[in-house]
Amino acid sequence: MQTEPLHIMPWRIEEIDLNRIDRQRAVANEDLLLLLCAASFIESGSDLYTSNLSIFFNGDPEVSTWLNTEWEPEELQHGRALKAYIAHVWPEFDWDGAFERFFAEYSQTCSFEDFEKTRALELVARCVVETGTATLYRAIGESSDDPVLKEITDNIRSDEVRHYKHFLKYFRKYNEIEGNGRLAVLGALLRRVKEIRNEDSEIALRHVLAVRYPEHADDLAYNRARTARVNALVRRNLSADMCVKMLLKPLDLPAKIQPGVHYPLTKITQHVFFR
Ligand SMILES: [Fe+2]
Ligand SMILES: [Fe+2]
Repeated sequence: MQTEPLHIMPWRIEEIDLNRIDRQRAVANEDLLLLLCAASFIESGSDLYTSNLSIFFNGDPEVSTWLNTEWEPEELQHGRALKAYIAHVWPEFDWDGAFERFFAEYSQTCSFEDFEKTRALELVARCVVETGTATLYRAIGESSDDPVLKEITDNIRSDEVRHYKHFLKYFRKYNEIEGNGRLAVLGALLRRVKEIRNEDSEIALRHVLAVRYPEHADDLAYNRARTARVNALVRRNLSADMCVKMLLKPLDLPAKIQPGVHYPLTKITQHVFFR
């Protein structure tokens, strides 16, 4: 039963003509496809996180309605869009089978214990996640010469930036009430930055590799080397500057000291975020 207002999506994957993809060229960039596929898994697993998150914001219809009617459908479309791209370029790839195995493991890692202790701090963490995805899709767009993929990743990136702005607005609303100091905010920020590195993408990529190269399934060294190559591809095209600017916002630093913090934070971010 539909009780919430229907959200009009800012763009629709069905309106993008995938037949314009130069398949031969796209296939040649195997590392990029591995990365897209891993990203499609994480995006497609978003609904699990939304239900946990909207429970966390129970009683605040402004946040929970936005999560359910805008954020979740848009994140799920990111997953569908990347899946459609992969299906077009790798028709033989068993996306559903690989996703099922990924999800079995991934769903174990999403739980209430992973939430920050307060709503404001969890919203900081969400800003970090959206910063990470906005930065990632910008990097993907920049590393590809396929206009169709660029169109898709540009659309996704604008969604992620808009999500970030929503989470930032909600953070400010809650921090008025909670009054967390900069140190607490920085703590939440760094905790999530560290987590981005560790978990989701590693799990996703491992399941993509297992289906794409079953002959190497048990070859740890191979998987490690492949993962490093995929990460290097992202790192080469990342805009640390945009990323750090977004990360700094919740700290609400006085303009005077911002330049002083920018450099060390860029270094930390490059080291932790981008490996
Ligand atoms: Fe997304
Ligand atoms: Fe997002």
